[in-house]
Amino acid sequence: MQVISSIAELRARLNEERAIAFVPTMGNLHEGHLDLMRLARENSSREHGSCVVASIFVNPLQFGPNEDFDQYPRTLAADCAKLQGLVDVVFAPSASEMYPVQQTVFVEPPPVASELCGAARPGHFRGMATVVLKLLNIVQPQLALFGKKDYQQLHIIRTLAAQLNLPVSIVGGETVRAHDGLALSSRNQYLTEVERSEAVFLYQTLQAMRRSVLQGARDFELLQQQALKALSDRGWLVDYVAVRDQSDLQPASGGQRDLVILAAARLGKTRLLDNVEVCIGE
Ligand code: PAF
Repeated sequence: MQVISSIAELRARLNEERAIAFVPTMGNLHEGHLDLMRLARENSSREHGSCVVASIFVNPLQFGPNEDFDQYPRTLAADCAKLQGLVDVVFAPSASEMYPVQQTVFVEPPPVASELCGAARPGHFRGMATVVLKLLNIVQPQLALFGKKDYQQLHIIRTLAAQLNLPVSIVGGETVRAHDGLALSSRNQYLTEVERSEAVFLYQTLQAMRRSVLQGARDFELLQQQALKALSDRGWLVDYVAVRDQSDLQPASGGQRDLVILAAARLGKTRLLDNVEVCIGE
């Protein structure tokens, strides 16, 4: 496994590769990331050859002024140890390598980027989509993999790749959960012990909504309000709980069959995200 920090060196290394599978990350890797690396290897050896590239870059462009960019855990040595044997190349550029001049060209994400997480984090998806496009241009993979835990992010990246005709297939990896069901996230380590045991309530709430929908509930507005109240009553600060159509993330009206229930809520200082897919008639 090679660790490369310069774009020129990375391009020289990848020049000979017939096909590449790519997993962009911000590092501080957990099982969810490692699962994506394994999926990249499986997919790439089946269809595309076998070079798997992971990137580790905490992208300043996707953090707001009052967000956790400075505190975001940077653990490159430990991350590389975890990636040993799973990937061929780790691309870990500095901020000045990625942004040698002030970035003045941005990806304008689709309107859904200002809803859900975008409503609480203005500019986040613009910064995310811009760095993802830069990384895809740098690595030029045939396959790029992203976790379904960031469902809205995955949707925006799929839209970006489709509408800008990028020659890459976007693959979504299933959310990996802790023993109690909490979705793995680098931000879980901000939780205190008490918050950590409460944290799984977000997933339990989404699962309860999923069961209601499968049992025939179609008043999604009511389900959302009930979930919001259940979370607020236990001290969560809820950004949103939303039942949406999987294909376009528009509000579900009752006619669609493939839905996703998404939520973001704060527990103390930590903002947690989760979602569950619901396929009616499955
Ligand atoms: O999901 C992430 O870790 C980041 O948003 C990504 C896709 C690596 C872009 O910085």
